[in-house]
Amino acid sequence: MAKVNSSSPRNILLLPGDGIGHEIMAEAEKLLNFLMQKTALDLTISTGAVGGAAIDQFGEPLPSSVLMQAKHADAILLGAVGGPKWEALDIAKRPEKALLGLRSSLELFANLRPAILAEPLMAASSLKPDLVSNLDILIIRELTGGIYFGQPRGVSIENGERVGLNTYRYNETEIKRIAHVAFKAAQKRNKRLCSVDKANVLEVTELWREVLNEVAEEYPDVELTHMYVDNAAMQLVRQPKQFDVVVTGNMFGDILSDIAAMLTGSIGMLPSASLDVNGKGMFEPVHGSAPDIAGQGKANPLAMLLSVAMMFRYSFNDHNTANLIEQAVTNTLAQGLRTADLSENDTYATTSEMGDSVIASLEKLLG
Ligand code: IPM
Ligand code: MG
Repeated sequence: MAKVNSSSPRNILLLPGDGIGHEIMAEAEKLLNFLMQKTALDLTISTGAVGGAAIDQFGEPLPSSVLMQAKHADAILLGAVGGPKWEALDIAKRPEKALLGLRSSLELFANLRPAILAEPLMAASSLKPDLVSNLDILIIRELTGGIYFGQPRGVSIENGERVGLNTYRYNETEIKRIAHVAFKAAQKRNKRLCSVDKANVLEVTELWREVLNEVAEEYPDVELTHMYVDNAAMQLVRQPKQFDVVVTGNMFGDILSDIAAMLTGSIGMLPSASLDVNGKGMFEPVHGSAPDIAGQGKANPLAMLLSVAMMFRYSFNDHNTANLIEQAVTNTLAQGLRTADLSENDTYATTSEMGDSVIASLEKLLG
């Protein structure tokens, strides 16, 4: 019989956000409540509005009271933000600012995006089974710097025409700290690290490469390689299993992790952890708010539930609970249950049926 460790109370903040965020978060909450009933885990759960939901209620995407709650929480679960309703707003006031504001205010610089193929989903991948069987890649994305945050930025008028500007900037400290996270992660895995850059064109990534090489000297057991981002995008769909850990900057990581997600069958499968130096984190699916399917029970809750597993693993150092949740997800898929994104025909499990089934699998594992 599997056991779950008892622990000190944990304070978890749920931020469902917009679109399918609510539906998938409801499944995460069910899972947490189940764990509290069935195990010795002591969790305190609170909820806050961010993104479009917060714009509608409070006139801003990240109210200071919610940011305060987030700062005091032991871990944060986030659904997704954004939707067509708020697309006409200034970039500075859009729902996405909530996400970016949380990441930067909490200094969640290390974004871990594991792309693991659940064997029962082999047929759902767009690649041939032999290319993706046993796929297990970890993408580490720098999350609080680079072109997402570089100053100056904006649109202005120059010589009578509009000019758009963003700045791609990294200092040594930012590169070093993400490099250490990546080397340490590689040490725990297959000891291969591929750093992705565009050092043939962009000076900022030339520095990125230099610093990676310097940090590599502290990790002689890890094999470091470098790859240009265009080639990395191609290699991810050509021969994805050549990768173990990939480390890259904010924007390249955003793009490559969507590619990696599809290798696993559906973007609805990929969880993520965004961590600060102490391992405090925010956990969220890689997918967005999918307004086109919101409210229809079509959303796949598994990326969200796997994000809950990552929370136990990385923020609470509770590998046992994390493994149990991951195993329950695999067992549910092995039984053949598929949400709309994964179904090969017209029948599919709803979001809550999938969530219930994961809990039923977990119940069996707990004995
Ligand atoms: C992601 C998302 C976000 C990002 C958006 C919603 C701001 O695409 O987490 O990958 O670009 O970082
Ligand atoms: Mg993205």
